[in-house]
Amino acid sequence: MSVPGSAGPLPDVAGVRAALATVKDPEIRRPITELDMVADLAVDERGGVDLTVLLTIAACPLRDTLVNDVTAAVRGVPGVTDLRLTLGVMTDDQRTALREKLRGGPGREIPFARPESRTRVYAVASGKGGVGKSTVTVNLAAALAARGLAVGVLDADVYGFSVPRMLGVTGRPTRVGDMILPPQANGVKVISVGMFVDGNTPVVWRGPMLHRALQQFLADVFWGDLDVLLLDLPPGTGDIAISTAQLIPTAELLVVTTPQAAAAEVAERAGAIALQTRQRVVGVVENMAALVLPDGSTLDVFGTGGGDTVAASLSRLTGTDVPVLGRIPLEVGVRTAGDAGVPVVAAEGSSPATDALRQVAAALAARARPLAGVSLGISPAARR
Ligand SMILES: Nc1ncnc2c1ncn2[C@@H]1O[C@H](COP(=O)(O)OP(=O)(O)OP(=O)(O)O)[C@@H](O)[C@H]1O
Ligand SMILES: [Mg+2]
Repeated sequence: MSVPGSAGPLPDVAGVRAALATVKDPEIRRPITELDMVADLAVDERGGVDLTVLLTIAACPLRDTLVNDVTAAVRGVPGVTDLRLTLGVMTDDQRTALREKLRGGPGREIPFARPESRTRVYAVASGKGGVGKSTVTVNLAAALAARGLAVGVLDADVYGFSVPRMLGVTGRPTRVGDMILPPQANGVKVISVGMFVDGNTPVVWRGPMLHRALQQFLADVFWGDLDVLLLDLPPGTGDIAISTAQLIPTAELLVVTTPQAAAAEVAERAGAIALQTRQRVVGVVENMAALVLPDGSTLDVFGTGGGDTVAASLSRLTGTDVPVLGRIPLEVGVRTAGDAGVPVVAAEGSSPATDALRQVAAALAARARPLAGVSLGISPAARR
């Protein structure tokens, strides 16, 4: 068949559907055909396409992106002369079905706690506040994303949430039924309690509420298939650290300290909690190491040795090798980048601090994923 008055072939429904399969929902990042968002599709004898696309929610913030992507894909099919696009909205039942499809079932379990999960979960902890946990977390996230990994950050510091600002996330999560879609910035999916409170309202939550909030962020947020999830913990050895261990037993601790002896002592306590919770300590990051002065000399603003002290002490305590994964110098650019919402590793150029941060990211990226529950694909050797 051909279009009247033209020599080209007429498009068919299968061809248009194949084109639509290349369009991803901008928030869920899966093909709209897989998400059952293509409701009606017909092609007439003139090459005109009638198409109804269902939005997940009426107030879909990325609706224009979706419309543009759908239009470009359909118009790109040879022989298509016209597109009559209708936007609809999913019903509650359709949303529930979508949620179950994405989650692989009706439950509200935490995907990272499943034995077959291939996501590495790192909880970034420190004893003292203000040593740079959040700075290290967002920079490692951006550096891992730049290496092509799918990365999420959960800001578990409910009292002092700072991750959205440091990562430049201004969007709010979209709710699809009881599923929460995380906004993304600098290639990283981010969820923070800061996105659910108005302005700078202080959050006054106690242990059980914190536990529930964390559980919800882990179970109800649609993270997709992450390679790495980083949790920015509040300082100290409090409820959130223990909840993390209970909710995701395979989460490993990354301990941040400054070179200062007093900070190192407290960092040891934060790391030692891993003994009680049976978590692994993946390593220590020494932040705020020697500042390089304009004349090239260095100044040990916070002293020296903290990272080594913590690593040695945690190695002894846990009976495993806990390495210092990197030493990040004090640098004005690290602070200004964080204030500007672009992690310094995502900005142009490099410096001793970005080199050190990227080196830590490389060490984490090189680690094998957990193998528990994963089929090794080994078949029995043939008998002779
Ligand atoms: N290597 C560095 N060089 C310069 N400034 C830094 C460096 N690391 C962190 N900072 C700055 O120090 C301050 C504290 O850092 P950050 O908020 O990351 O610490 P934190 O451990 O997460 O704090 P809190 O305990 O309050 O959560 C921030 O202003 C940050 O920009
Ligand atoms: Mg912080």
